[in-house]
Amino acid sequence: MAATAAGTVAEALGSAVDAFRAAGVEAPRLDAEVLLAEATGRDRAMLLASPEDGVDAVAARAFGAMVRRRLRREPVAYVLGRRGFRRIDLRCDARALIPRPETELLVDIALELGPESVLDVGTGTGAIALAIADEMPGCTVTAVDTSAQALSLAGENVVALGLAERVTLELGPVPSSPREFDLLVANLPYVRDDEWAGLAPEITKFEPREALTSGPDGLDAIRGLLVRLGPGGGLSAGAVALEIGSEQGEAVAELVRAAGYGDVEVRKDLAGLDRAVIGRIV
Ligand SMILES: C[S@@+](CC[C@H](N)C(=O)[O-])C[C@H]1O[C@@H](n2cnc3c(N)ncnc32)[C@H](O)[C@@H]1O
Repeated sequence: MAATAAGTVAEALGSAVDAFRAAGVEAPRLDAEVLLAEATGRDRAMLLASPEDGVDAVAARAFGAMVRRRLRREPVAYVLGRRGFRRIDLRCDARALIPRPETELLVDIALELGPESVLDVGTGTGAIALAIADEMPGCTVTAVDTSAQALSLAGENVVALGLAERVTLELGPVPSSPREFDLLVANLPYVRDDEWAGLAPEITKFEPREALTSGPDGLDAIRGLLVRLGPGGGLSAGAVALEIGSEQGEAVAELVRAAGYGDVEVRKDLAGLDRAVIGRIV
């Protein structure tokens, strides 16, 4: 493709990278490439292989609009409106937290345990619930969230992925019924209130705070859930797998034991950080 008035791939990338760098964006080159690929409808490898190709005026305008959003520190997943999680692509916007790669560990744990019924508490985009339903065809999943906004986005993802027969959504901290599950998974908020101000602007300016912070030690939501699983709490699960902050392993393991689970294990993520607590009824 010949160069046009809108400039070449190399020029478009160069000016975006400079602007991103000046704005403090963490991965300026990668973000510029991903956004230009989206704007031009070409994949990144093709773009990089043809730096002297022209960017047409329509693509240049779309790229400019995306660059301006990213310069305000809006996360790339919100600019694109989607994020990959395991094998699925999820719609993604400010109604819910962007699924993080480390959360994929909870899906690995579900695969290991092989449940037929799963409860996902704090489903957000529906990431964990939908990945489990996608990878475990024999499994039915109930997913709850206290945010009606998050649940509306999760509902769109359920439909888009064609998983409505096996994934049910409900508003609230726990489902009204059924209340017995083989496995409960949850990536509830676990950031301490006093950590919020120090987080990246991508998070504090754009992601819902109620998806991230949970009281002075970050454990209010996890504590509230485990009380419901304890004696007389009305909710029952043969096993639990909870995502945690890297320094919360022992505290959450103790809460899981207090809820009646044995064989409690703290599991590390790929970065070697404590990331999940697993408890089983023994
Ligand atoms: C950290 S986000 C996780 C979203 C999604 N599961 C994921 O991993 O990407 C936590 C979610 O839990 C929801 N939430 C917060 N407190 C809750 C509670 N007590 N019970 C159920 N959901 C809650 C929030 O609205 C938010 O969607």
